[in-house]
Amino acid sequence: MNSMVMNGDIISNWEGRHERLFGNEVVRLNHRLRESGMFTREAIGRLIERCPARELGIESMDTDTNNKERLYGVLGDASGLQALEAIEKGRIWMNIRRVMDWAPEYRRLLDDIFSEFQGRMPGFETFKRNMGVLVSSPDANVYYHADIQGQSLWQIEGVKRVYLYPRSEVFVAGSHVEKILLRETDENMPYEPWFDDYATVVDLQPGEMVTWPLYAPHRVHNHDCLNISVTMEHWTKDIWNSYAVHYGNGVLRRTLGVDNPSTKPSGLHVYPKAASAFLWKKMGRQIKGDVIKRRDFKLDPHASAGRSPIA
Ligand SMILES: [Fe+2]
Repeated sequence: MNSMVMNGDIISNWEGRHERLFGNEVVRLNHRLRESGMFTREAIGRLIERCPARELGIESMDTDTNNKERLYGVLGDASGLQALEAIEKGRIWMNIRRVMDWAPEYRRLLDDIFSEFQGRMPGFETFKRNMGVLVSSPDANVYYHADIQGQSLWQIEGVKRVYLYPRSEVFVAGSHVEKILLRETDENMPYEPWFDDYATVVDLQPGEMVTWPLYAPHRVHNHDCLNISVTMEHWTKDIWNSYAVHYGNGVLRRTLGVDNPSTKPSGLHVYPKAASAFLWKKMGRQIKGDVIKRRDFKLDPHASAGRSPIA
């Protein structure tokens, strides 16, 4: 295909066994995204400048670690490269969201990546694919949580330690999955330090990607360096059915007091088509993101924590 953004395979060490492992176990592979030239600091800087304000999420935390309140930021008059500099100095997370919606060459890359997967895994048909770029400060954390869709994390620069926990009732209660799906929680889940004894721990290096089973809880801790990562999301029919089943069960439990509904993602238990279509519409709205009006700081490469307050 000559529409390909990159020549050759994007995943460079795929083996037959990965078809069976993908989506069911922790899978760590090598990728060639950096060779595309689309994720150099300069390219990310330009992407930051092109990103529509509504898709640029910038967050930080109070330097007082007892105050866990989030602070919300804006780019201000910083250039893209200055923004990277500011994040390198501070304790800041920048989410460049839904890149494929407003940067067509990244949409082509995303399509190429999933065509490659489908070429290697016949039947792996995906939809609602999403690509974002996450730029985060040295030592930044992403707390224990689970996601509702298929997820993969592709490291570009810096190293992050990813803790991946088993998908059992011990680490993520079925009732909590429902809560996440019904958006009754901010997706932070009860966490105990001893969970780590059961985690698969991956120090994700530039040029590596990792993916994990649906709903498997995870948390991330950056090494002491700026981190640039690409996050990808996808849905398959199975992931969608599982979503619909859990969602349906959550509704049953809440409205009818049904105690132990089945979570088998097949057969008669799959939520009826009509309800599924309703969900689809509802989710389209949810996925558009939460509109945060409050802005606390702007990025500032000259300030000590990489940010200065907005009055
Ligand atoms: Fe996640």
